[in-house]
Amino acid sequence: MPAWSTSEIPDQMGRTAIVTGANSGLGLVTATELSRHGAHVIMAVRNTEAGEDAARTIRSTVPRADVTVRALDLASLDSVRRFAERATDELGRVDLLVNNAGVVILGRRRTTADGFELHMGTNHLGHFALTGLLFPLLERGREPRVVSLSSITHKRAHLVFEDLMFERRWNVPAAYGRSKLANTAFGIELDRRLRATGSPVISVLAHPGVSRSNLTPRAWSEWGRLGRIAAGLSLALSTQSTEQGTLPQLRAATAPDVQGGQFFGPSGRNERRGDPIEVEASAEARDPLVGQRLWAASETLTGVSYL
Ligand SMILES: NC(=O)c1ccc[n+]([C@@H]2O[C@H](COP(=O)([O-])OP(=O)(O)OC[C@H]3O[C@@H](n4cnc5c(N)ncnc54)[C@H](OP(=O)(O)O)[C@@H]3O)[C@@H](O)[C@H]2O)c1
Repeated sequence: MPAWSTSEIPDQMGRTAIVTGANSGLGLVTATELSRHGAHVIMAVRNTEAGEDAARTIRSTVPRADVTVRALDLASLDSVRRFAERATDELGRVDLLVNNAGVVILGRRRTTADGFELHMGTNHLGHFALTGLLFPLLERGREPRVVSLSSITHKRAHLVFEDLMFERRWNVPAAYGRSKLANTAFGIELDRRLRATGSPVISVLAHPGVSRSNLTPRAWSEWGRLGRIAAGLSLALSTQSTEQGTLPQLRAATAPDVQGGQFFGPSGRNERRGDPIEVEASAEARDPLVGQRLWAASETLTGVSYL
């Protein structure tokens, strides 16, 4: 069977898609490909200047691109609410939400505007709240989908509900991995809840293996000259291009035969590179008790309840 490629993306004309972190890396390629296939893409970005630059880049390769830049800082629940309110005023419905944005930081433990550990707050809780606040728009969508971005690091991570904000023995790989496990368990629990209520929305997951982007180089470059060398090395060690790494999320977002709960990642050894195929989440991410506990904790922490 031939590998899935962007040539298989069906016509997206008439569809409205929101892509978080659409100014960089995998998010920018996702926004570009959705635009190329006719979707109206809302680029949800924390820095609107960087977002406008990225929109110009898209228009330079896709002259008829229908892209709109909107401010969204996932590390602030106020910003998430403002984004959702504006989307509710401006859009009649949302057909696709790609929860793509993500952060990795080095150095010391940091927190979001709401006091959440930065990885958990940005990567998971911001997207949990965003999905809930946009849910009425998604329910009005045509064949609506939510795509959650996982990572192979989720497989080595554990959710410690007694210390979800990682106040004890914080370290970068564990904190990032834990947030990506939360993204994965969230996507799977969302699928369970959507099925249980007979919702038209489906929840799908994807991960990019190890792909070139600004994610780790940016974290390293905060560390001066040595950090910049490490950033260059980290890029060189990425096993595949940004374009190839984006294929799992594009397949999850657009392939007509996708079912809720499916998870796409690269086909190669340890899922680090390759063509986008169906892959499996860790046992912990699939555990319904973990999904329920994470959902309840996320509702309490964000004050956003749905499903
Ligand atoms: N690249 C990989 O190998 C890899 C592997 C596994 C998983 N992933 C996942 O893939 C997704 C995309 O990452 P990437 O690799 O494309 O990295 P990237 O190039 O650094 O892009 C990350 C995007 O997230 C945005 N972002 C960060 N914090 C945000 C916040 N508080 N509010 C709104 N947006 C925020 C960034 O905005 P700014 O430009 O303003 O910082 C940027 O647009 C992430 O979920 C990441 O965890 C990537």
